[in-house]
Amino acid sequence: MKILLLGSGGREHALAKKLSESYHCDTLFTAPGNTGTQQYGTNLDVSINDFQGVRTFCIEHHIDLLVVGPEEPLVNGIYDFMQQTNEAGMKYWDGIVVGPSKNAAQLEGSKDFSKKFMQRHQIPTAAYASFTAENFEAGKTYIQQHSLPVVLKADGLAAGKGVVICEDHATALSVYENMIQQAQFGDASKKVVIEEFLSGIELSVFVLTNGSDYQIIGHAKDYKRIGEGDTGLNTGGMGCISPVPFADEAFMQEVENTIIQPTIKGLQEEQLEYNGFIFFGLIKVGQKPYVIEYNCRMGDPETEVVIPRLQTDLVALFAAMHNGTLADVNINIDHRAAATIVAVSSGYPEKYEKNKPIQGLNEASGREDVIIFHAGTALHNNQMVTNGGRVLAVTALATQLQEAITLSKQTLSAISFNGMYYRKDIGYEFL
Ligand code: AMP
Ligand code: GLY
Repeated sequence: MKILLLGSGGREHALAKKLSESYHCDTLFTAPGNTGTQQYGTNLDVSINDFQGVRTFCIEHHIDLLVVGPEEPLVNGIYDFMQQTNEAGMKYWDGIVVGPSKNAAQLEGSKDFSKKFMQRHQIPTAAYASFTAENFEAGKTYIQQHSLPVVLKADGLAAGKGVVICEDHATALSVYENMIQQAQFGDASKKVVIEEFLSGIELSVFVLTNGSDYQIIGHAKDYKRIGEGDTGLNTGGMGCISPVPFADEAFMQEVENTIIQPTIKGLQEEQLEYNGFIFFGLIKVGQKPYVIEYNCRMGDPETEVVIPRLQTDLVALFAAMHNGTLADVNINIDHRAAATIVAVSSGYPEKYEKNKPIQGLNEASGREDVIIFHAGTALHNNQMVTNGGRVLAVTALATQLQEAITLSKQTLSAISFNGMYYRKDIGYEFL
């Protein structure tokens, strides 16, 4: 098969590596890709949001499979665009897209849509109400009467910054006004979801589905805050572990029964076309799982621990998804634990500098149980330099979680760039 992967982060490096290892992969392209994906195929100078450019490439290069990494093109409808037909009713391109349709991607693209979906299908989630400029005053009253903390969420995509947990009503009111009246997140905050705060421990579960069958391909716990002990600003993710020690068989069965199965049934009942990953962002409250959010893609850096543990051929899984044989596939997962720790540029998630030379990469590479995923790097005159906030994700595998974490940290300690920072406490609750 000829495969095109969209995206340019650590997630895409992990996906590119896995795709290239498939028996079914003949050629791999990544658009735009990064220095990591380049090792497994050809990077293309095509933007993830240039749907026409993507389709033209797919037609001209006889691409069979399009794997979409990030949410933005999915929420903007790349799935539907790739299925379009000409006046004669012929598809412009006749390949497989891994991702949901635009309608289904609203599960991530609109918090209000996803909350309503969960309500319709009795999927456990925090109680909520949504407000816009039209019922602005009612929203103020709702906030004033709400228990604390109260959670405010911009309805649309806000690059992970659209959720604010408020400890007092005055702050909540001001956040609410900023979101709706000052359009703090542009159109994304024209509508605001106000919801109950759930207290518990989070984890993410990853499923591949064709909208009727599904397979769980792994689960992980992400560390989102910049600072150790889960303090400071939210980031895209500073590290992950997999498996999550508390996600035992009984808990995962509960997740399947009360969350995954009703979600897939809901997609079917509402005819929401889906051929891709669902990322269930969950929180365990007492013994019970609740949905915090749906994402319509894999996570980053969750992919960097979930995919290295997945032993099943990923391209075969996509083919089974397409052929309706997903339920027959055996999912094999490495029994070892995986930990990934993300090295970021000083200043991230706010302003940071780029172009810092990275030392020690070659020395740190070469072990079977360590993988250095590139997130924001670039090659300038044969020198690897930083090119983003999240620079590298170093994944290690070992029998015990503790060993995996230690190995990841050891590897990172041999790598350096000016302003490099990483959390040394990934997995701390479980050690
Ligand atoms: P989201 O962008 O929906 O993933 O939210 C970002 C983070 O905010 C989540 O990972 C949680 O840590 C936190 N969060 C969101 N909703 C709630 C909630 N209802 N209760 C507690 N924490 C929440
Ligand atoms: N690491 C969180 C996400 O990918 O959304």
